[in-house]
Amino acid sequence: MIIALGGGKKVFPNPLVGAVILSPEGETVSEGFHEFYGGVHAERNALEKAGDVTGCTMVVTLEPCSHHGKTPPCADAITSSGVARVVIGMKDPNPLVSGKGIELLRNSGIDVEVGLFEEEARKLNEVYLHYIATGRSFVHLKMAGTLDGKSAAADGSSRWITGPEARKRVHEYRRNSHAVLVGGGTAVADDPELTVRDVQCSDENQPVRIVFSGSALPEKLKLFSLPGRTVVATDGQENFSNAAEVWKDIQTPGQLFVKTAEQGLGLILCEGGGSLAALLLRDHLVDRLSIFTAPALLGSTGIPLVGDLGIEGIEQILRMEDVTVTKTGNDILTEGRVVYRVD
Ligand SMILES: NC(=O)c1ccc[n+]([C@@H]2O[C@H](COP(=O)([O-])OP(=O)(O)OC[C@H]3O[C@@H](n4cnc5c(N)ncnc54)[C@H](OP(=O)(O)O)[C@@H]3O)[C@@H](O)[C@H]2O)c1
Repeated sequence: MIIALGGGKKVFPNPLVGAVILSPEGETVSEGFHEFYGGVHAERNALEKAGDVTGCTMVVTLEPCSHHGKTPPCADAITSSGVARVVIGMKDPNPLVSGKGIELLRNSGIDVEVGLFEEEARKLNEVYLHYIATGRSFVHLKMAGTLDGKSAAADGSSRWITGPEARKRVHEYRRNSHAVLVGGGTAVADDPELTVRDVQCSDENQPVRIVFSGSALPEKLKLFSLPGRTVVATDGQENFSNAAEVWKDIQTPGQLFVKTAEQGLGLILCEGGGSLAALLLRDHLVDRLSIFTAPALLGSTGIPLVGDLGIEGIEQILRMEDVTVTKTGNDILTEGRVVYRVD
């Protein structure tokens, strides 16, 4: 499973895939992973390194492909290799593959086992699986607030509510993401850089910066002068002559995340503010939620961590599941999936 992670952000819109070939005695013969979109697939990488694989077992995180895409079908390479058994983490839900790769292997006499580590395989490829199911990018919303649920003081200042350990964690999130998104209110109030700084990151690995705003933004914002790609996503009413790149006619966050997926940006880290966070939550668009809570108070004049969710009664409360709670310096990090009500 770990080997598949080698592809990192470079494989989207393809999945992360790792393959290991084991000898009949159970010894590791070779390993391979899908390194980048359009590159050789994991199974072929492992087969190329292995030599004679007669009677061997291949363990692979996802169903081998059966169609001609940017590379020839992996299932064909496996059937002609001499591999006797294939253990597959999970079936590929991509309609171009979905079951056809497994069928091809079985029809050629290979012993195939599917779903042995499906839970881990699903977690590994949550961004890809979400994209195949919805056509949208996977959205990770990160917020930081006080014990009384405020994200900024009454004057809009919010630096810094949480400590250095929490901020370092956020830089790791940024490094793992294809793009970092904020609302226009945050871009103006905080003038953020949205770059990866506290952890090592090459220039080419820096995330794209996206501001979602219907109102004009000041030209002097750092976002517009820093190296790298900055996008303003807007409904097109304003003239954003200062921005490096403008996506017009983006009326809703849902449209934005279809556009980001089309642009090869699979994982989007949204860093607020509260109005944008509420908009995403109301539209059921937050796929992972991470909230840092600092041991501090701002009182009733502080700005709420999340804007209006349209909740009128306790039965509409938004809860999280698969929750982990960790201490990050003096702050508490709560992470999980949002449970959306479907009325
Ligand atoms: N503690 C934290 O983790 C954290 C994180 C982020 C932000 N914050 C704080 O949250 C506050 C900002 O949140 P928010 O809810 O006001 O805004 P936001 O969620 O960042 O942005 C939402 C919308 O605000 C509008 N907007 C408001 N003022 C604007 C302006 N002057 N220029 C351009 N667009 C503007 C834009 O929409 P339309 O123009 O389309 O109406 C934008 O899409 C700041 O005080 C910031 O410090 C805290």
